[in-house]
Amino acid sequence: MNSPFDQSHNHLAWHSSKWEKYRGTDIIPLWVADMDFAAPPALQAALAAHVEHGVFGYTRVPRNLPHVTVEYLQRHYDWAIDDASLVWLPGLVLGINLAVRAVCAEGDAYATFTPVYPPFLDAAKHQQRGLIALPLITMVNDAMDFRIDFVALESSLSANPQTRLLLICHPHNPVGKAWSADELRQLGAIAVRHDLIICSDEVHCDLILDAAQRHLPFALANPELAARTITLMGMGKTYNIAGLGVAFAVIEDATLREKFHAAMTHLVPDINAFGYTAMLAALTECEPWRQELLAYLRVNRDCVIATMQRLKIAVTRVEATYLAWLDCRHIPDAHRFFEQHGVGLSNGAPFGAAGFLRLNFACPRSVLNEALLRMEQSLAPI
Ligand SMILES: Cc1ncc(COP(=O)(O)O)c(C=O)c1O
Repeated sequence: MNSPFDQSHNHLAWHSSKWEKYRGTDIIPLWVADMDFAAPPALQAALAAHVEHGVFGYTRVPRNLPHVTVEYLQRHYDWAIDDASLVWLPGLVLGINLAVRAVCAEGDAYATFTPVYPPFLDAAKHQQRGLIALPLITMVNDAMDFRIDFVALESSLSANPQTRLLLICHPHNPVGKAWSADELRQLGAIAVRHDLIICSDEVHCDLILDAAQRHLPFALANPELAARTITLMGMGKTYNIAGLGVAFAVIEDATLREKFHAAMTHLVPDINAFGYTAMLAALTECEPWRQELLAYLRVNRDCVIATMQRLKIAVTRVEATYLAWLDCRHIPDAHRFFEQHGVGLSNGAPFGAAGFLRLNFACPRSVLNEALLRMEQSLAPI
């Protein structure tokens, strides 16, 4: 074993959702966006010290957390915000629903691009608002790539003037794109023209795999956007602490922030005390660990791409996230097919793309290699 990420853990001991789904079977779970890795040692140590304290009552936002978060945004993305812009949240699916509820009145709609993380689509049903789902343009050369269809967006907005919100995923789950400055500027210009608020879910922004590429927050893409953007961020994906329920929104415009707060009233619980502790450690002590993680994920990504190319399954190049998006439309009932051959992937249908599958490669290389071998063997007789 050469890397801490090679280590395997007993995931069933603490009821990991990812592993419980296939408890008692021989199916390797590569579905939900949760990594199989232990959180950074510094973060574990901070939690251990908190447990040692032994008193776990109602807890306020730690006094230094806003300042530490502002510094992190400045250091990592050159983003200067006031700490009054921060809204603490126990989760980002909640944040997506709050954004839809706060910005769209009854009868209004929001637009988003498919395929996309299913809660982006489900929020329409949950909040009883209209949904305009616009397919990304798929291009296949040496790898599968996706582009925003700006023409379709613009004409759909003109045809649907009740659209108030554009919900984007940046970097994008599941297609693994970190949208370029040019793409963000074009989106921004359209948003300004149609007077839209943008909710940009940036939870995957610290998982850009290309070392040379830097995350550009949507709110920074042009000077007019800060006042009309709700940015959702959190440490859950990068530091594998999704189970601790801590996240935040950045909303620089005070009126928009008030609307968001109003949507939260009497519905949103406090963040649990361990969430704050973990987040502080993630923001201040875990950068070397994140760099090691990215290096490990890059190799895993390359293994997935090489295997899929051999299997003639079109796959994304995955600029960001630990999620590969596979075009399996030529394999009948592909999700079940791979489960029957011992690999549990995410089904594309809830993302708005039946026949596609999402593969989570954030697992020890031995586990990934076994899963990829099973996929190769399952397709061998075809
Ligand atoms: C784009 C995106 N937003 C939000 C979430 C979930 O965030 P949370 O666990 O904070 O609700 C995920 C999880 O995979 C995600 O991919």
